[in-house]
Amino acid sequence: MSLDRALTLHRNYFRVEPKVAVFAPGRINLIGEHTDYNGGFVMPCAIDRGIWVVGRIVDGESKLISDSAGPGKPFDSANTNRKPTGWAKYPAGMAWVLSEPFGLMPNIEATVVSNLPMGSGVSSSAAMELAFAKLFQALGGFEADAKQLALLGQKCENQYVGVNCGIMDQMASACGKKNHAMCIDTRTLEIDYAPVDPSLAVVLLDTKKPRALTDSAYNERRSQCEAAAAAIGVPQLRDANLEMLLAKKSELDEVTFRRGRHVVTEDARSIAFKSALAAKDRNGIFALMKGSHDSLRDDYEVSCPELDAMVNAAWLAPGVFGARMTGAGFGGACVALVEREEVEAFCTSVLPIYKKSTGKDGEAIVCGIDDGARILS
Ligand code: GLA
Repeated sequence: MSLDRALTLHRNYFRVEPKVAVFAPGRINLIGEHTDYNGGFVMPCAIDRGIWVVGRIVDGESKLISDSAGPGKPFDSANTNRKPTGWAKYPAGMAWVLSEPFGLMPNIEATVVSNLPMGSGVSSSAAMELAFAKLFQALGGFEADAKQLALLGQKCENQYVGVNCGIMDQMASACGKKNHAMCIDTRTLEIDYAPVDPSLAVVLLDTKKPRALTDSAYNERRSQCEAAAAAIGVPQLRDANLEMLLAKKSELDEVTFRRGRHVVTEDARSIAFKSALAAKDRNGIFALMKGSHDSLRDDYEVSCPELDAMVNAAWLAPGVFGARMTGAGFGGACVALVEREEVEAFCTSVLPIYKKSTGKDGEAIVCGIDDGARILS
C-alpha cells in the first residue's frame, strides 16, 4: 500500500516512472537502552513499518518529494559541501558517506513515503539513511553488506546530520530478521538472532509526547559514561561491572555514579533477557524489563511523566509479559511484550488509564518483526 502511494506520488510529481523501489524498517528496542555508545549489548527488532523510497538517476541536481514532509531541498551529489537544510540532509549525507568507499553517487529523483509514527522514537532517521543507502546501491550497483551500510548510516548521522548517536538504530534497520530479536554486541557488531515466540506480540505504546531536548541531554549522558569509565580505568563501561563501579564510588560524583550504574546493570539485564525470552519466562521477562525502566527513570533520568504513566498502566494490564520505555527517552514510546491472544484486552486496559493520568490520548500499535532494509524491485 505504501509502495503504491510512493509510485503514484512519484508519477504525479515527477511525471515519469521511477527505476527502483526500496524499503527500510524502523526499530523497536526490547532491552539494552543507552548501552550502544558504551560498547555494550542491545536487543532491538526491525518492525514492519518504515520508509519506502522509489527513484531514478537524473542529470542535474537531485530532487526529492515526501508524502508527509513535502519537497526536499535540491542537492548535488558531486558537491556535498553545500549541505541542504531540512530532511534532504539524509539523502545528501548518504551520497557523501557512500562516495568515499564506492565513488561518486549519481544525482537522483526520489519519492519518500513513511508509515512510522513521528516523534515516537522508532528511528525514522536511521530508516531514512538505510533506505537511501539501498536506493543508491540499487542505482549505482556497488557491493556492500548490511553491516557496512549500517556503519555508513551512523557516519552520516554523526558527521553530516550532526547527531552523536550509537550504532543500534542503523544496525536494526540494516540487519533485521523477520520474527527475530537481534542480540547485538555493539563493540564487535556480532548479531545473535533470537526467535520471538509467535504467541508473544510486540506492542508499541506511543505516549504522543514528542521527544524534547534529546540531543543535549543525550550528549551529556555520553560524557558522564566516559567519565565513569575513565574513573574505573576501562576503555568503555562495557568493560566494567557493578563491583568495579562500586569500588570507585567514593571517587565519583553521585550523578556520574548513577549513570554508570544504569549502564553496567543494563548490560547484565540485556544478557539475561536473551535466555528469559527464549524460555518465555514470564517472571524473568517482566522483572528485567521493569528493572530496565526503573533504572532509566531513576539512575539515567531519561524517562518523563508520560512514559512512567504508560508503563505503570502496562505493568498492570492483562496479558503483559513485560514493558519499559524504548529509545532515547524524554518522550516517545514504551514497548510491551504481550500474550498475543490478550492484546486487545491489554490495549483496552492501558490506554484509558494512561489518559486518566496524563489527559493525553496515547496509541497502541501491534508491530510485526520484519527483515532489514532491502531493494524491492
Ligand atoms: C537513540 C540512539 C541510539 C541509542 C538509543 C538509546 O535511539 O540513536 O544509538 O543510543 O537512543 O538506547
